[in-house]
Amino acid sequence: MCGIVGIIGKENATEILIQGLEKLEYRGYDSAGIFVSRDDKQEYLVKSLGRIADLKKQITPEVQGTIGIGHTRWATHGKPSEGNAHPHTSNNRQFILVHNGVIENFEEIKEEFLKNFQFEGDTDTEIVVNLIQHFAQTGMTTKVAMKKALTVIRGSYAFALIDKNDPTTIYVAKNKSPLLIGLGDDFNVICSDAMAMLNQTNHFVEIADGELVTVQADKINIEDEKGNSIYRESYEAQLDLSDIEKGTYPYYMLKEIDDQPTVMRRIIQEYTNAVGTTVIDEQIIRKITASDRIYIIACGTSYHAGWVGKAIIEKMTTIPVEVHLSSEFGYNMPLLSENPFFIFLSQSGETADSRQVLVQTNALGLPSLTVTNGSGSTLSREADYTLLLHAGPEIAVASTKAYTAQIAVLALLAKAVGDEKGNQVSIDFNVAHELSVIAAVMETIIDEKMVISQLVEKYLTDTRNAFYIGRGVDYYVSMEAALKLKEISYIQAEGFAAGELKHGTIALIEEGTPVFGVITDKKTAAHTRGNLKEVESRGANNFVIALASLAKETDQLVLPDVHPLLTPLVSILPTQLIAYFATLQRGYDVDKPRNLAKSVTVE
Ligand code: F6R
Repeated sequence: MCGIVGIIGKENATEILIQGLEKLEYRGYDSAGIFVSRDDKQEYLVKSLGRIADLKKQITPEVQGTIGIGHTRWATHGKPSEGNAHPHTSNNRQFILVHNGVIENFEEIKEEFLKNFQFEGDTDTEIVVNLIQHFAQTGMTTKVAMKKALTVIRGSYAFALIDKNDPTTIYVAKNKSPLLIGLGDDFNVICSDAMAMLNQTNHFVEIADGELVTVQADKINIEDEKGNSIYRESYEAQLDLSDIEKGTYPYYMLKEIDDQPTVMRRIIQEYTNAVGTTVIDEQIIRKITASDRIYIIACGTSYHAGWVGKAIIEKMTTIPVEVHLSSEFGYNMPLLSENPFFIFLSQSGETADSRQVLVQTNALGLPSLTVTNGSGSTLSREADYTLLLHAGPEIAVASTKAYTAQIAVLALLAKAVGDEKGNQVSIDFNVAHELSVIAAVMETIIDEKMVISQLVEKYLTDTRNAFYIGRGVDYYVSMEAALKLKEISYIQAEGFAAGELKHGTIALIEEGTPVFGVITDKKTAAHTRGNLKEVESRGANNFVIALASLAKETDQLVLPDVHPLLTPLVSILPTQLIAYFATLQRGYDVDKPRNLAKSVTVE
């Protein structure tokens, strides 16, 4: 979703902003823009629909500055267009603003304060920049006018504002949306994500909701809502620039699929000791052990990982687990058990839907754990506990290594709780060993890439739709496999419980419809095969992905056997590659699918 960058105190602001925006491209966007200003007050506003590459074409050599802000926009209010792209300018041309988030009461603000203002586009951001002008015109300083505007605005936001009359300061504030300050020598930067400014600094300062920060070349000042100055230590970003480069890979997604064995091994290292015992904060284990029900809250791919997590956790711990979509749970909270424990599963740790649930569970005083790849992310900061995925940055919009990392971390957590409870199945489950077997098996599947690419040509070249079916964990994998396929290749794909297909959806099977059957569970293998026969006799082009011990000669992909509780960690891999090759063969951008954002910071 929208990304923000800003810089003050360096000659080449334009170049730094553009490089920063390029690093934020992975978040998803449809237009972009920058504003830069020089000491002599020469200023430039350049905006463009489309990619950063399109914006760059419009930047002429004189577009230079020592202060600037930049933005990638993912449309919410108003269609993607140059007019709706940020930065936005106030009517009197004094204020320039970029915004990430959604202002809920923008119509009321327009009605109450801005009757005499003109609007060039349809964005809620234009309302805010003019609201600041409105307050400034009553005699307030820019800082006070911005503070005043923040008391009127309801919604989520990260703002960066420049007053053209005093281009020595960037005014910054946030609520629910991410924003960081980066510290340099005689310059400072702002960014939605540390990755954007890593080539300038790796020292960052977090901003809390409700604070107002003035960022100048040689200092920053953080003020709380009451106007008190606050000192906050900076932290060093644990990121390496090489982590965010794709090297010789054509796409990040392929690199991230290939990263998975390494991630498995890293997780084993992070969460187990030399003799394979799990090492997880004891307080987390005690809290979960004392709970009578676990609620996993997540969206999209993380939600699918949550279902696999449920299967493992229930088996190991005997604690019932419910898995909920954040966007539903927040508005229709089910009756909770007496001692619930909440697990927020989120690659980014910034997902607004999940965050709104966490705000509610925090208000109810309920214990929570965030399992995330986003160290220092909003969900991580606001939950009681965090377990990191250690997957390294995931740049492709379609999540791959974060999904398998989530399952691996939940398996280790389940083992730790199960052992604490003295459950024999848990004690007998050597997760560290099983995960190392998985890492090796993942490598063998990755080595089969070209076979998968050829099969994809046969099955998916010009199909309109496709189905993945399975039972139990194979159904959970089917949901994720279908999401992967549809989100990047645009093939309409559904993941179905194999037994449910005949209750309606089988009507969609036509001559040649690809149906992928996932078979990794001994108890359900025969039934899923039966369901595959049903669709085959109605014309389906079946593609079976099965474990070796359950495979038939005619199966298209046979996977080495692994521990029965961890099969999703291997059965998902070919489906990620299927999605990748289907997209490549259709000529779409694998890493940046249309309409999607990596970090979904609006509800
Ligand atoms: C799909 C995908 C999304 C995310 C979802 C939640 O490939 O990545 O479905 O899983 O937007 O995001 P996080 O995990 O960051 O909360």
